[in-house]
Amino acid sequence: MDFRTLGNSGCAVSTLCLGTMTFGAEADEAVSHEQLDRFAAAGGTLIDTADVYSAGVSEEIIGRWFASRPSDVTEPMVLATKGRFPLDGHPNGSGLSTRHLTRALDSSLRRLGLDSVDLYQVHSFDPHTPLEETLRTLDGFIRAGKIGYYGLSNFTGWQLTKIVHLARQLNLAPPVTLQPQYSLIVREIEWEIVPAAIDAGLGLLPWSPLGGGWLSGKYQRDQRPTGATRLGEDPGRGMEAWERRGSERTWTIIEAVQTVAEQRGVSMAEVALSWITARPGVTSTILGARTLEQLETNLRSSDLALTAEETATLEAASDLHATDYPYGALGIEQRSRELVGGR
Ligand SMILES: NC(=O)c1ccc[n+]([C@@H]2O[C@H](COP(=O)([O-])OP(=O)(O)OC[C@H]3O[C@@H](n4cnc5c(N)ncnc54)[C@H](OP(=O)(O)O)[C@@H]3O)[C@@H](O)[C@H]2O)c1
Repeated sequence: MDFRTLGNSGCAVSTLCLGTMTFGAEADEAVSHEQLDRFAAAGGTLIDTADVYSAGVSEEIIGRWFASRPSDVTEPMVLATKGRFPLDGHPNGSGLSTRHLTRALDSSLRRLGLDSVDLYQVHSFDPHTPLEETLRTLDGFIRAGKIGYYGLSNFTGWQLTKIVHLARQLNLAPPVTLQPQYSLIVREIEWEIVPAAIDAGLGLLPWSPLGGGWLSGKYQRDQRPTGATRLGEDPGRGMEAWERRGSERTWTIIEAVQTVAEQRGVSMAEVALSWITARPGVTSTILGARTLEQLETNLRSSDLALTAEETATLEAASDLHATDYPYGALGIEQRSRELVGGR
């Protein structure tokens, strides 16, 4: 397992992170604890959860794992959680206000049974709360010793740029990470969000790196998903819904991943995960798994380095073919400058 720092911070984390959205949902407590044990044994050190995962149960399961394992297993772990989305239905039960974030963090710490978390992520932008209020709250959490660092999730380029500059202006702690959806299927963030994050020194923590399971090769064209799979259980689920994601482009990408996987004699999941972990700006790829076997497969991606030719095959198949302006060929040409001639 390799290690990189959380963006511009000095905190080192493994390049694979254990996502825990399945904990308390598809994975019961015993399987979740097996996944955590296996991840720790493989040298993984970053765990990602959120208050809303299984309505708080994911955090509780992680808390009981921390409480029941020896300190040499738990001490290396860097724990990340999130707040922003509602667990209560009232108007102040969500958002990035001081009121909500203070209650949300305290509730997360209570469920985790810990005094602090290493990384606290605001789960998405809040159009109703001034960024200064959110920044002062997060800076206060750091000063109070309740969090080590904070990060952003699902922010756009202008939003993260604004928050980084405002933090500097107000002499408050800046964010260190951005957690966006990112995979061979979802590459739109490369146009504006990834360059903004790199410019701001934020490390990327990609979520849904297998596109919700699609890139493992588990779904077949013209065959509606069945059985104990995300879309077998709920074809309309989230961003990965069968009708929404099952485009010609997706099937082309899946074929390219399959080709590379067969040539290398590895699983498709390993290929897709190896590709994303090697992308510019990425600190740690967040793995999702229902079973221990899936996690075993996904962890093996840390041993796979794709060649330039294999990477080109995957990137040609997943190219979004942006129209000329602003993100296509003519827009890029307008922003380029060749340093030729003159002295
Ligand atoms: N910040 C955010 O807004 C946000 C949003 C979503 C997720 N996340 C984080 O990112 C993590 C990962 O997201 P994700 O779970 O959507 O990631 P993903 O890797 O795209 O999808 C994971 C799912 O794919 C299937 N799968 C995984 N490995 C497989 C394998 N080797 N072979 C076959 N199927 C496999 C499993 O689903 P089935 O077996 O059930 O089909 C698994 O639950 C989450 O746990 C969470 O920590 C963050």
